[in-house]
This record gives sequence, C-alpha cells and structure tokens, in this order.
Amino acid sequence: MAEQTPLSLVVLISGRGSNLRAILDAIASGRLPATVSAVISSNTTASGLEYARSNNIDILALDPADYPERIQYDRALQGLIERFSPDLVVLAGFMRVLSAEFVQHFRARLINIHPSLLPAFRGLHTHRKVLEAGATEHGASVHFVTEKLDGGPVIAQAQVPILADDTAETLAARVLEQEHRLYVQVIHWIAEGRIRCEGEQVLFDEQPLQQPRQLYTPAEQ
Ligand code: GAR
Repeated sequence: MAEQTPLSLVVLISGRGSNLRAILDAIASGRLPATVSAVISSNTTASGLEYARSNNIDILALDPADYPERIQYDRALQGLIERFSPDLVVLAGFMRVLSAEFVQHFRARLINIHPSLLPAFRGLHTHRKVLEAGATEHGASVHFVTEKLDGGPVIAQAQVPILADDTAETLAARVLEQEHRLYVQVIHWIAEGRIRCEGEQVLFDEQPLQQPRQLYTPAEQ
C-alpha cells in the first residue's frame, strides 16, 4: 500500500503553546502522520515559539501593533500562511478574533480548540464562568472555524468532571490535559481523511455527524 502523505500543518499560537507541543510530540513519536511546516505567533515573545525553534520548525511572529486595522493584519497573516500551502491551519491558543475574509479564505481547513463544551461558554475565562454558573460538566471542543466566534461546527469534545474543591486553575489544568489528547486525535482523523467539513456540516467517514464525537478517558474506552 502506498505511504500516506503526512498532513501539512501551519499552527498559530499566541502564548504558552502547550497544544502545539502536544502536536509536535505526537508527530515526533510517530503517533500523528503530519508535519508542522511553520508556527506563527501573534506575540513576538510567546514562550511556545521556543519549543518549535528547538524542533527546527520555521517560526514567525506577526505583531498586531504593526497593522492599524484588523483586516490588514489578517491579510498579512493569510499571505504568510499560504507561503507554506498547508493542508490544515491549526489555531492553538491563537487569541485573536479573525475577520470574515480570513475565515472564508481558509474555510474547511481551519480548526480551533476551545476550553469548553461548545456551544456552552464561548469567549474568554471559560473555567471561571463554568464554576460561577454551577455547571456539572466541563471540557474542551475542537471545531471548524466560521465567521461566528467559537460557533463553527464542532468535530469532537472531551469531557472532564468538575470536583467540589475545583478552582478555575485546577479545572483549567484538568481540561488542558484533555485538550492535548483531543487535538491530536482530531488532527489524526483529518490526516486519515475521515473528517471533512461541508458548509456547516461535519462529515465523519462521509456520514453527517449528528453530535460531536466524544473522546473518553482511557478508563472508559
Ligand atoms: C488553551 O486552553 C486553548 O483551549 C485556549 O487557549 C489555551 C492555549 O493554551 N484557547 C482559547 O481560549 C481560544 N478561544 P496553550 O497555548 O498552552 O496551547
């Protein structure tokens, strides 16, 4: 059988880059048939850039301060990404709202990870909001990006329990662990050609996905 061509990724970050690291580690250990062609940061001092550099990956930073308007920034970003002709653009803690033009350009090859069980708790400070709301479940979602903020079709989710003594920090740490597994799994499915997006519909093995796939913890599988 012919070798599968690895899926080429451009990963966008703004800070710590732990999801990026999980992706790079999965590739390095042969668990993910992908290559990261470039890492682009919206923050020139993002700590996540260091890990990419130490893995000999092209790293680039695009500072929003150099662009008076969002659309100019997004056009520059689009041009930079397209230099690498990626199969998939992966938002991994990229903390910027993207213009409709950018999103439309990359439609169906742009995914994001968000620290909540979407559609619940869009936006920022999700862990704090979950605790304040007294929610009984929490987790992370990976979705295709559309013009609607944190509103694109959800591919898969990982749930975590909320414990009685949880703080926003302990909850964030528990969710982050699951984010790393979830993002690697979803990119793996895309690399295998099992997932694609048509309009607002996610197809899994060519069947419309009625509910996001749930990623269970190893004990439950
Ligand atoms: C992650 O928790 C990710 O889900 C979140 O930012 C964090 C980045 O961490 N993204 C969003 O909130 C996007 N709306 P990382 O830099 O260590 O991967």
